Amino acid sequence: MPVTMIARRSFLAGVAGVAATAALPHVARARGGPPIHVLKDPNCGCCSAWMEILAREGFAVTSEPSRGTALFRAKADAGVPADMASCHTAFVEGYVIEGHVPPGDIRRLLAEQPDAVGLAVPGMPYGSPGMGPESRREAYDVHLIRRDGTTEVFTRYEAAA
Ligand code: CU
Ligand code: CU
Repeated sequence: MPVTMIARRSFLAGVAGVAATAALPHVARARGGPPIHVLKDPNCGCCSAWMEILAREGFAVTSEPSRGTALFRAKADAGVPADMASCHTAFVEGYVIEGHVPPGDIRRLLAEQPDAVGLAVPGMPYGSPGMGPESRREAYDVHLIRRDGTTEVFTRYEAAA
């Protein structure tokens, strides 16, 4: 297909998408959410808080309990370097999402489709989604995990003033 045709098609799809969103916000939102599956310790409250935020943003969230060695192994198997580890580990459209990654970064990852393992917010920074108020956020980075296990900063969040 010629490039101009592809561009025209995606432009038209974009226009249709905007119209549908404007007319039927609830339907569009429910349909717009990609399925994301979360491995989490059943006793971890912050994981649930993060999942609720994703659900509110339109993601179709499912989860299963995992903890201790099994959870640690699942992270390693998924390609999460040890220094990138956080509490929960999630899977969305072939990517791994480790820790309290903001929904906007997940959307950007899915839109840009980089050849990578996924995203991580190591540790549990205060003020990241599910970890307390953004108004009191400490500075943290969302990292892109490359296939060779190295990382780069995907998004930098400054500390709240
Ligand atoms: Cu957590
Ligand atoms: Cu968690």
